[in-house]
Amino acid sequence: MLEKVNKLVEKVNRFTPNSEEELNNFRIEYLGKKGLLNGLFSAFKEVPSDQKKDFGAAINNLKVLVQNKIEDYKDGFETEETEESIDLSRPVALDNLGSRHPISIIRNEIVEIFNRIGFTISEGPEIEDDWHNFSALNLPKEHPARDMQDTFFIQTNPDVLLRTHTSSVQVRYMNENKPPIRTLSPGRVYRNEAVSARAHCIFHQVEGLYIDENVSFADLKQCLLYFAKEMFGEKTKIRLRPSYFPFTEPSAEVDVSCNICSEKGCNVCKNTGYLEILGCGMVDPNVLENCGIDSKKYSGFAFGMGIERIAMLKYGVNDLRLFFENDVRFLKQFKKSI
Ligand code: PHE
Repeated sequence: MLEKVNKLVEKVNRFTPNSEEELNNFRIEYLGKKGLLNGLFSAFKEVPSDQKKDFGAAINNLKVLVQNKIEDYKDGFETEETEESIDLSRPVALDNLGSRHPISIIRNEIVEIFNRIGFTISEGPEIEDDWHNFSALNLPKEHPARDMQDTFFIQTNPDVLLRTHTSSVQVRYMNENKPPIRTLSPGRVYRNEAVSARAHCIFHQVEGLYIDENVSFADLKQCLLYFAKEMFGEKTKIRLRPSYFPFTEPSAEVDVSCNICSEKGCNVCKNTGYLEILGCGMVDPNVLENCGIDSKKYSGFAFGMGIERIAMLKYGVNDLRLFFENDVRFLKQFKKSI
């Protein structure tokens, strides 16, 4: 018996595998369920007890030898990559890239559309004072229209607040620049409103301001018609309804024709065939004077829109909260539009 084990030891020592397959066969031959070592372990029972010690040591030694052999050669075969084993035509695994947020995509689109007719971007602080957010815009203290924009105040100081619209940036811009002015103010704004599918306490706006000599309401209408067609398609029509804003006179709310139902009426436009997208008007002379612009010489128009609202209409999203949850399953659907 011992003789047999010694012969196997010699055989294992001499063995040099040339391929993974050979090594695998070797493993099965020795260590497999019906392999040589298991055979020897069962034979162990039959060995006379005075030889058990030597025989046991010999088969254990053989087992370690076999395991070491396999260990020595295993890695060599695993890392070896021949030209045939690499498929050079296989497409690369794509990295899971992030995508631009739909609000940024729409913001950029709006900015580009107005850039093409000469509007440039202006930005300002999100924490504002009363003057820039309200008073300069013809909204003195105690003006009832302040209630239209539920305001977050910083601590207990009523003079420091989170801007409720980016009109505050326009006030700053008018203070620092002389007409002609053509500026666009995109940014984040805050209102103390209950969060629902249609409203949020944080949202984004783009406001526009155009001031020059002889700017008329017709210019405003044409400018907005151009925007609506660029944003929603060549066939889009606009409709202006009289409205009220303290900083513009006259003021209007603008609707675009619903391109989901082609004005026939659907649940998105609530069967009216039109969707409200923005507020606008001719800048009130008081506002111009508050900002150091001669209202006898200059006139201008302003408009403001919510980016979320435009994104909802453009992408058919029916819950505004989705834009703030950052669920990648939602966000990655807008990847193509980068
Ligand atoms: N600032 C207004 C708002 O936030 C929008 C607006 C801007 C309306 C300019 C008219 C003119 O509601």
